[in-house]
Amino acid sequence: MASSLVTRRSVLGGVTALAATLGLDGKALGRATKTLTLVAAPGRSLVAGAPHPDTAVWCFGGQVPGPEIRVRQGERIHVRVENRLPEETTVHWHGIRVPNAMDGVPHLTQQPIAPGETFDYEFTCPDAGTFWYHPHQRSHEQVERGLSGAFIVEEAVPMDVDRDLTWLLDDWRLMHDASISSDFGNMHDVSHSGRLGNTVTINGQVRDTLPVRAGERIRLRLINAANARIFGLEFKDHAPWIVARDGQPVEPHAPEDGRIVLGPAMRADIVLDMDGRPGERFQVLDTFYQGFEYRLVDLAYGDEPPTRPSKISRSVPRLPANPLSEPDIAHARRHEIVLGGGMMGMMRSAIMDGRTVDMRTLMHNGLVWAINGVAAKGHVHEPLLTLERNRSYVLELINDTAWPHPMHLHGHSFRVVSHNGSPTRHREWVDTVLLHRRERAEIAFVADNPGDWMFHCHILEHQAAGMMGTIRVT
Ligand code: C2O
Ligand code: CU
Repeated sequence: MASSLVTRRSVLGGVTALAATLGLDGKALGRATKTLTLVAAPGRSLVAGAPHPDTAVWCFGGQVPGPEIRVRQGERIHVRVENRLPEETTVHWHGIRVPNAMDGVPHLTQQPIAPGETFDYEFTCPDAGTFWYHPHQRSHEQVERGLSGAFIVEEAVPMDVDRDLTWLLDDWRLMHDASISSDFGNMHDVSHSGRLGNTVTINGQVRDTLPVRAGERIRLRLINAANARIFGLEFKDHAPWIVARDGQPVEPHAPEDGRIVLGPAMRADIVLDMDGRPGERFQVLDTFYQGFEYRLVDLAYGDEPPTRPSKISRSVPRLPANPLSEPDIAHARRHEIVLGGGMMGMMRSAIMDGRTVDMRTLMHNGLVWAINGVAAKGHVHEPLLTLERNRSYVLELINDTAWPHPMHLHGHSFRVVSHNGSPTRHREWVDTVLLHRRERAEIAFVADNPGDWMFHCHILEHQAAGMMGTIRVT
């Protein structure tokens, strides 16, 4: 049996068990509401795999990653988060267009959940697709310690595949005894590429193989839950089709250069036809960082005969669109957003707490990045932009730094309409857009979800060191 299938199943079992045992007063809740409790607590998990010992982690539901949450599109969910960590936390439902009060941003949309306390999140999931959840309180440490999980919203009619698998990819900085290195948020990580680790896991574990069967078609949901690592995945001798980005359907297409690039927080749903023969083995490589390529896992074909005759080329269907408002680009209001700071940057000063301060003062406060000249401390500040509800906007994002930044907007999905001045081929809907050094991109959306929404870099060390702001929709 496929190891990730087993994992997925035990993960699903985890949710059911939690809902049943810790479970929740179903009272006053309609039939269509799914309820579950998610406990955030210290735990132990076998991250590096034998012969290494297990690792002290922080986790949801006693496991890393946390239980995979599954609901149907349009379904309502009630999640009671119970905090048994030694510090405050919150949970953010990354990519799900929730009402502002359910967005999980400490001090901005809710008070953080104190140790021993609970918070009830309840919302409807308007879009089908692959999402994830993680704390938004000191996330550069809490996510790194293992607090994250997949959140799948199923289409009304499931895609016709043999298996639907999730790979939550993570990157850990482990010591020789497999413990997590405690140098969170050190100035070097913060001012360069963020915290890169030395151990990459699929669903919380270093894996050697994904057992597959010749002829089967797999829908693979890739989630990058790493603090800072960018993945560039190549499936040797296989031809993946990208069918969704950040949960949102896209015209099925082969990845550019045959490589699926995912910055932190980004997702891709791919369709993978197992065109190899029984007994064969193929590598899945991560080739993003030149000189640091490595084998992520092998696709290992079992000996069973193919499920269907090979070489019949099969079409890849387009997923049904989600109910997103189409931006009116011709009449959209435009704004520029400039990302600055970091090592090898030109930033000499920035606005902190409303006044201009020099780089030394910024660094003294743990800040090295800025958006439009403002280095954000904490989650509450003057909005970067105030947008009028239901109007269309085009934001031009300009990366004026020597580092990549996956920029994430809460509460909305947006189209990426241009990249370095050229129109994008698929005008993909996403919630996170990756800007490599000195790149620019135009994003377009309708500001249709009222509230104060975070807009930040999802390299969590960059976020913690100032690359964060709020966009207000009134
Ligand atoms: Cu994935 Cu502001 O978060
Ligand atoms: Cu960044």
